[in-house]
Parts: sequence; structure tokens; C-alpha cells
Amino acid sequence: MTLFSPRVFSGMQPTGNLHLGNYLGAMLNWVKMQETNECIYCVVDMHAITLWQDPKALRQAIRDVTASYLACGVDPKRSIIFNQSQVPEHAELAWVFNCVARLGWLNRMTQFKDKAGKDKEAASVGLYVYPNLMAADILAYKATHVPVGDDQKQHLELARDIAAKFNNDYEVEFFPQPEPMITGPATRVMSLRDGTKKMSKSDPSDLSRINLTDSADDIAKKIRKAKTDMDALPSETAGLKARPEAENLVGIYAALSSKTAQEVLNEFGGGQFSGLKNALADLAVEKLAPIADETKRLQSEQTYVDSVLAEGAARARAIAGPIVRDVREIVGFIVS
Ligand code: TYM
Repeated sequence: MTLFSPRVFSGMQPTGNLHLGNYLGAMLNWVKMQETNECIYCVVDMHAITLWQDPKALRQAIRDVTASYLACGVDPKRSIIFNQSQVPEHAELAWVFNCVARLGWLNRMTQFKDKAGKDKEAASVGLYVYPNLMAADILAYKATHVPVGDDQKQHLELARDIAAKFNNDYEVEFFPQPEPMITGPATRVMSLRDGTKKMSKSDPSDLSRINLTDSADDIAKKIRKAKTDMDALPSETAGLKARPEAENLVGIYAALSSKTAQEVLNEFGGGQFSGLKNALADLAVEKLAPIADETKRLQSEQTYVDSVLAEGAARARAIAGPIVRDVREIVGFIVS
């Protein structure tokens, strides 16, 4: 078996603000992983246009999300930070993967069903083949590890299937099997208004999520207003089953304090929600307000942010270029 050297790849869509789910589900791991790994972090602007985006707002969102990456501690000296559309190898490899992946595989993707809504005929073709582009993002770098939240699991499985089918169809050991890294106590952060729904940028209620640009007052207000049930908090994690709001708030506290859910319950179990909420509001403000301040500062440094993206794109191309060139050879194109 071929051994692939470890390389981390992940990305986020520039469609609106990043929120606590992005931060706890993925970003905390991104920052940790760059201590010991070669990491490539992408702003996936080509994925964003699978749903129509206002061009001016998209350009702004690419810069804002980059500012949030930097403010959260992604270090452009250590890691590569770039926006997807500046590296054309992603689109090229995605085309090859459109010819490798099977319709049946894409038909099973639950995210397409959610995002396309009732009128599937009106959805863009891009939304349908979105997971093939995601596989290309990862495999254009032969990335071996992909830190993401729980909702990306099915897409990662598809990327593994595509890698395996490509290797099999062309009788090569060319692509690795990328490993999803879905770790930590908050891999699926839920809405603060409804513990059965995922925290998401597209929820019409801003109270449902904590944005990484929220002020200290807003953060505290949203936690105070978070939906709860009427019972006291349980003392054991088993008692969180079927109590989605309690499980969510405990998970968020655990992730922000680097504790386990059980350790949080050792502290707050038996008490009312108000005790946990007060402590969580303080903790969230302590951890997130500095990120919001730094994001705002970087939002006024457009030249710097653009230079980070340009430099990152050049470094990314230096890796993806030769890999995609090899793909052209493998599939039988003439490469001059
Ligand atoms: P996106 O932009 O929806 O989300 C970015 C990251 O945040 C995680 N996440 C969450 N984690 C926990 N709880 C939540 N409520 C929550 N909401 C979002 C996501 O799991 C993700 O890790 N398809 C991807 C972007 C992408 C990508 C890639 C990721 C494109 N190419 C290649 C990894 C590798 C997406 O739409 O993420």
C-alpha cells in the first residue's frame, strides 16, 4: 500500500457570517492541527455560488470569512489560506470527478435534498454536483485529514468513494482515502431557539446563532434567551438524552472550556439552567469577543487580507498544479 504524507485540508463557505457552530465544530480543530501538520484552509467561494449570491456581497463575504479565519488564530505563515476560485485546479479536477462519481451516489446526498427544497427541478446543477467539487478540493492536494463538523460526514464518505473509484478505474494508487476528523464535544451545535435544528447561517432568526462578529452584549443576550426545558440539569450525561436544548448548552460550555460534558455536569448538574447560562454567557464573551474585535480590525485591512489570499493561492497552486497535471496524464489527455 502506498503511504501518503499527512496533509490537512478544510474549507468554509463565504455566505454570511461565521457562527459558533463553525467555530466549535471545525475552526478550533483547524487551529490546533496547524501546530503539528501542514494545513490548507480554503474559503470555498465556488461552492457559495451553487445558490445565487449578490456579487458585491460575495466579494465582501470572502474577505470577511478570511478575516475570521485569521482572527480565530489560523496563521498564514504556518498554514495556507486562500479562496478556491484563485486556484483553477479545483474546477478542473471536479470535472474529472463528475465523470467518476455515479448519479446514484449523488442522489443519496441529504444536503442536496435539504438545500434544493421542494422544487428540485429549479435547483442549479452546481448544487447537485457540489460534493464532487468538495472531493476535488481535498484530493487536489492529496489531503489525508479533513477537520469538519458532523454535517459534512456524508460528503467525506463520497470523497473517499471517488478516490477509491478513480484509483480502481485507472489501476493506480494515486489518491489517499481522506479521513474525516469530527472530534470534540460540539461537532453538531444546535440552534439556540430549537435544540432539534442545526445552528446555521440560513436560519431567519438571528437569536438562533452566535455570530463570530457579535458584540459582548449580543452574545450574553442570546445565551440568556436560549430555549430550555423546565427541569433541573441532570448529573450524568445519560440524563441529557431527549433533552436537546440542555445537551446543546452543556456541549457548548464543554467545548469553550476544553472540558468534557460530564465535567460540566459535575459542576452544574442538579441546578437550574440559569446557573449554567450565566457562566456560559461569561465564558462565551471571554472567548468570542476578542475574536469579534480582531475580525473587525482586519475587515478594515483589505489590502492585507487580499495579500494573504494571493500568497496563499500561489502556494496552493504550487501543490495542486503538479497533482492535477498527473491526473491529466493518468486519464489519457495529452500534456505538453
Ligand atoms: P460550511 O461552510 O457549511 O461549514 C463550515 C464548517 O463548519 C461546520 N459546521 C458546524 N459544525 C458544528 N455545528 C454546526 N451547527 C455547524 N455548522 C457548520 C461544518 O461541518 C464545516 O466543517 N461543504 C462545506 C465546505 C467545504 C469543505 C470542502 C469542507 C467545501 N469543500 C473541503 C472540507 C473540505 C460546507 O458547506 O461547510
